[in-house]
Amino acid sequence: MVTISFVGLGVVGLVTQACFASRGINTIGVDASKHKLDILRSGNLPFYEPNLKELICDACSNLTFSDSVRHAVENSNITFVTVGTPSKADGSIDLLQISEASKAIGVALSNKSRYHVVVIKSTVLPGTTDNVIKAILERESRKSAEKDFGLIVNPEFLREGSSVYDTFNPHLLVVGATDNRSGGEIERLWKKFFNNYFLRTIRTNRITAELIKYANNAFLATKISFINSIANLCQRIDSADVKEVAQAIGTDPRIGPLFLNAGPGYGGSCLPKDVKALIKMSHFVSCHLPLLMAVDEVNENQPKQVIELARNMMGGLKGKTVAILGVAFKKDTDDIREAPSIKVIRQLIEHQAIVRATDPLALENLKKIFDDKIAYVKNKFDCLSNADCCIILTEWDEYKNIKAEDFIGYMKKPCIVDARRILDPQEFVVATNYSAIGLKPSYKETIPYREEHTSEIDLDMPLNAIRKEGVLIAENERYTIHDLKLDELTVSLTELKKAQETRGHSHADCSEVYFFTQGDGKIQVGNRTYYVGQGSVITVPRSEFHKVSNLGEQKLIFITVFEGKRFSKNYDYENKASLKSTVAEAH
Ligand code: UDX
Repeated sequence: MVTISFVGLGVVGLVTQACFASRGINTIGVDASKHKLDILRSGNLPFYEPNLKELICDACSNLTFSDSVRHAVENSNITFVTVGTPSKADGSIDLLQISEASKAIGVALSNKSRYHVVVIKSTVLPGTTDNVIKAILERESRKSAEKDFGLIVNPEFLREGSSVYDTFNPHLLVVGATDNRSGGEIERLWKKFFNNYFLRTIRTNRITAELIKYANNAFLATKISFINSIANLCQRIDSADVKEVAQAIGTDPRIGPLFLNAGPGYGGSCLPKDVKALIKMSHFVSCHLPLLMAVDEVNENQPKQVIELARNMMGGLKGKTVAILGVAFKKDTDDIREAPSIKVIRQLIEHQAIVRATDPLALENLKKIFDDKIAYVKNKFDCLSNADCCIILTEWDEYKNIKAEDFIGYMKKPCIVDARRILDPQEFVVATNYSAIGLKPSYKETIPYREEHTSEIDLDMPLNAIRKEGVLIAENERYTIHDLKLDELTVSLTELKKAQETRGHSHADCSEVYFFTQGDGKIQVGNRTYYVGQGSVITVPRSEFHKVSNLGEQKLIFITVFEGKRFSKNYDYENKASLKSTVAEAH
């Protein structure tokens, strides 16, 4: 009877082992981590994966665990190599684990007389099995691949969170082999696994099999970055909704409906790393891959879109309490590897927001990254309690049915950024301040983007220059105005005291841009309300009659720029002295 060993008990290794064991096949799982083996031997799991615990429990008589590759190889007929192939800092793939595993398997093969098949399931770049793994195995075993032992590439397409289901229901079996003996043996093994049920099989060489896995993941990543690009466009177009666009294009059989959910970007242990590794590899074979570079770039920038939505909605993030709902890279896993939540939280911290996170499973993993820099809250409602803003980053089912009344009841103000599109905009736009990936924001109050300058920018310097070089246009109990004439432009510095307003005016030939440089607060311009602070920019359209009312508690200093001279009156900019003496009202 066949026995199968697995070297590397991550999601792929442990799930595949458990699935084979559940089919009545003897299995041995090997891992270098003693801690992981202790957890497994005690009947627990080192990570969460739906249905895995039950499967292991039911099939325990066919499952053993060991820290010895030698023991595993000696006592099995086939060894699946399922160790991790993580990214290095430069994006290239780290072959340390797979080299170590190959070495240990090679040593074990040197003592074994029976034929053995080594199956590479770990994701490795095209050529790695032939050029690296085979060489190590042959050197350590002093035997020849194909002749003395089999060497197969058999990539998997398991998704975390549904890997048990995916193992039992794959869309394809890929067998990369250079000889019929080992290739046939692996096909027969899988046939037995599927009770001779038909499974679409591609038999190819090892290098093509390796590339199939990368191309598969790179294409999935491309679909996600594509729809995220369309989402970013939708956010800037009135009434466009990426969700409806995705639903519509997904009905085209040439496109298909899956992997078209716009969001904060793809994460996890595979897609980000595999796209980067392909790009890195392309440099070595002098092949430019601009498409994949763009896919990667869109994904790297997607968390910033989430931050921008929150920042625009809040009028700034400094000092604001932000509740993060969901930190796992997707639902039904505790995995946060490359999760968009990490980038979003980092940027929130940079903007000096106070971050509070909740997740049904992934908080312990998040703690290892952020330690005491943020707060961790078990209950979703406690997380929302008194928060200024809520960002939904993982599509957990339990967040989908949070009611608008709950956000309203628990939060300081119900400002929601739905980065996973799990809430119904029809309902939430009416009841709350709701913004979402792939939807143009439509808050009840227009709150423009405001940048917090955390760096040491000395804004007094340009302000003082305008005060010194400009013309004093007005100085009274409500405001002070200095104008600086720059050819056809007028740059005007207004210091508007609290609870005061400028005079109503319009510019016939140009729009007027307001840059806010000092003071925080709420203002009214025409019939619009804004929260402004250092860095806010507001544009008033040409010919619009307006005045600026300071509704806040602080003096506001802003620079306005408009074409031509000051409206209505033709000031004598050259003759400062005469103007200064007649200053009274300007705006
Ligand atoms: C992926 C591949 O799907 C799988 O075939 C391969 O074996 C391993 O890599 P996995 O990383 O577990 O699986 O998760 P997947 O479901 O592919 O999701 C990856 C990321 O893309 C997640 O962050 C997910 O939230 C995101 N995603 C997925 C989207 O943003 N939109 C989508 O429409 C689909």
